[in-house]
Amino acid sequence: MPSDAVPRRLNVVVGITGGIAAYKAVGIVRAFVLAGHDVHVVATENALRFVGRPTLEAISRNLVHSDLYDGVAEVRHVAIGQAAELIVVAPATANSIAKLAGGFADDLLGNTILASTAPIVIAPAMHTEMWQNPATVANVQLLRDRGVTVVGPAVGQLTGADSGPGRMSEVDDIVAAALSTVTPQDLKGRRILVTAGGTREPLDPVRFIGNRSSGRQGVAIATAAAARGAEVTLIAANLEVGHPPSIHVIAVSTTAELATAVSSAATENDVVIMAAAVADYRPERVAESKIKKDSQGDVLDLRLIRNPDILMSLAEHRIPGQLIVGFAAETEPDDTALLAIGREKIARKGSDLLVINRVGWTEGFASADNSVSVLDATGAVVTATNGTKLSVANRILDLVSAR
Ligand code: C5P
Repeated sequence: MPSDAVPRRLNVVVGITGGIAAYKAVGIVRAFVLAGHDVHVVATENALRFVGRPTLEAISRNLVHSDLYDGVAEVRHVAIGQAAELIVVAPATANSIAKLAGGFADDLLGNTILASTAPIVIAPAMHTEMWQNPATVANVQLLRDRGVTVVGPAVGQLTGADSGPGRMSEVDDIVAAALSTVTPQDLKGRRILVTAGGTREPLDPVRFIGNRSSGRQGVAIATAAAARGAEVTLIAANLEVGHPPSIHVIAVSTTAELATAVSSAATENDVVIMAAAVADYRPERVAESKIKKDSQGDVLDLRLIRNPDILMSLAEHRIPGQLIVGFAAETEPDDTALLAIGREKIARKGSDLLVINRVGWTEGFASADNSVSVLDATGAVVTATNGTKLSVANRILDLVSAR
């Protein structure tokens, strides 16, 4: 049964309460919208003193709800909560946490939460004294016992000159924690190493031989694996894209650096996914200073030497039970020939799975979408899928999870 990191467009209610960190809630709303979700903001009257309704409506692309007595005919005080698939309260003030713990329904947010069976995630934000007050401590414990996910607060600079625990967690951490409550945690307890990007082989201090891999597919795999509960290490070679903060990243540039990073991390991981485009050759000599055309004339000869195959030696020396996934990006236009190349490659390299995709002048690299076939060690196609790189990532992880 396939599962997606975030299965589909979710109805997300972002509850905003009246604390100064309310301005950061705009970022949370934005992140959910950009991830493709339908976001409904329920703001308290005090929240709207800190952040403007037009801002929230523009960013959420929906009306902002705040008044319990608006939309009475459509029974809005329960309708929003009934439709919600995920509720995120950020910032959650000491007062709103107390009200939530007590089951109060004296405003629209309270009614929405009481009328909902969706997972609830709160991101507390308040001064340290309020966070550490026994009343707040007891209220937070009560909420945790009822299954509410509490993200943070972080320790750091507060609104005034003071600092300590009480600062609202970062937007990305709140969104990641919230989405993980609606994501199957089938990779929990698994350690997964992912390589992404493309290696660069220097010619001199300013030039390199590289490839067009952006790292999007590899980062999507790392992101999806983390969302599904895995502990992820990403070996990042010259990425053009960002990555979620929950992922441990080792930055590399050359194939030799990637090889060193992979070999030291591989023994600590249950799964290794080699999505990086690794240079097959590197210049035999790297010039100490910039190569000058004056000293070269009209033709510059470059001698390249073969790089070691990291995937092949990884598969050869694998730790017992380790699952190894390789990638093959090929320009072959014909499907049968593409699969034949893949079959030869998985047999030669010895990985457990091989993800094949077609690349070309206009295909594959920087795009948000991908189309892949996955072979198993016998050469059989076990999955053929296309869609966003995140959805392709999840199909690959379904195979990993099943094994
Ligand atoms: O041979 P080819 O480069 O097409 O193989 C692609 C797969 O092998 C990818 O998973 C890539 O990360 C890996 N590879 C490697 N070391 C190399 C070349 C490729 O691990 N030197």
